[in-house]
Amino acid sequence: MSPVKVWCAIVKEKILAMLKENDGYLSGMEISRKLGVSRTAIWKNINSLRSDGYQIDSITNRGYQLISSPDILNAAMIQDHLGTELIGKEIEILKTVDSTNEEVKRRANLGAESGLIVAAEEQTAGKGRFGRSWNSQDKEAIYFTVLIRPELSPGDIASITLAAGYAVCLAVREYTQLDARIKWPNDIIIGHRKLCGILTEMAAQSDKIDYIAIGIGININQKSFPEEIKTKATSLYLETGHKIDRNDFFRIVIRKLDMVLKSFCVSVSVKDIENFKRLCATIGRKVSVQRFDSILEGTAIDITPSGELVIKANDGKKYDINSGEVTVQGIY
Ligand code: BTN
Repeated sequence: MSPVKVWCAIVKEKILAMLKENDGYLSGMEISRKLGVSRTAIWKNINSLRSDGYQIDSITNRGYQLISSPDILNAAMIQDHLGTELIGKEIEILKTVDSTNEEVKRRANLGAESGLIVAAEEQTAGKGRFGRSWNSQDKEAIYFTVLIRPELSPGDIASITLAAGYAVCLAVREYTQLDARIKWPNDIIIGHRKLCGILTEMAAQSDKIDYIAIGIGININQKSFPEEIKTKATSLYLETGHKIDRNDFFRIVIRKLDMVLKSFCVSVSVKDIENFKRLCATIGRKVSVQRFDSILEGTAIDITPSGELVIKANDGKKYDINSGEVTVQGIY
């Protein structure tokens, strides 16, 4: 975005924030004085907000009043009292993009700073694990990617995904009191259905990470799912029975991610792993995993400090699994 466009976007978000804070009518003169922009610029921005779906009433000599907001992600609202340290200083919401992971990787390659978050209302080529596509046409979900540049070694990437999953679980538990759990290594489930998927990608040179892009897709207000995933997927709406304010919930997710990643980027402690295990639905269940040309069957019994799943196979031997698709008995 050009500097002028960035400036215009900031003015628009500031006007919106002022209207939100104000209960009654806010005069154009007051906005103009506070933001140092002309009355014409304010009028243009108000019209632009209206075309975004905000219902704004205006009365001559009294000014503007926000009547209702559309259900769209808004960076200023998410950043309002966000209070994070590591991530979220820069949040960009795109209407549409191929994939937020791809967008963040492009920006990282151009030197974007650690902590950037890119979210989109829609992805035209959303990516899942194992080269699968991730259905991203629902404007009721949240699709976003966080860029971090930690001083970690490439081997730590498995536990980064777990850390992100743990943070999403904490956010869901706090916001909805639902029993969200991690299905190792990258899914968040409620009951036996998937609520969220995480795709972590990394660029590294020998032993040093250049950046990590943590891509997260969370089902929020979907009322139903396509036939082929209907028995496997769920949303916060389906679980709670009511609509969720995506901006409010997104703010909580970012706070939890900030908290978890901050401690994680220093070092992975035994306490972190114990916490992940506490919320891991895979532990204690019968699992099977494709390994090379055979299928390993057994029971998941532990998670190692580097985030691997420990399986006690049916022959009594223990295996540490660091990737691969694990099928868990009783979960989709
Ligand atoms: C999976 O469960 O297979 C992982 C799904 C990850 C989806 C998210 S949505 C935001 C980010 N952008 C993508 O293209 N993928 C991730």
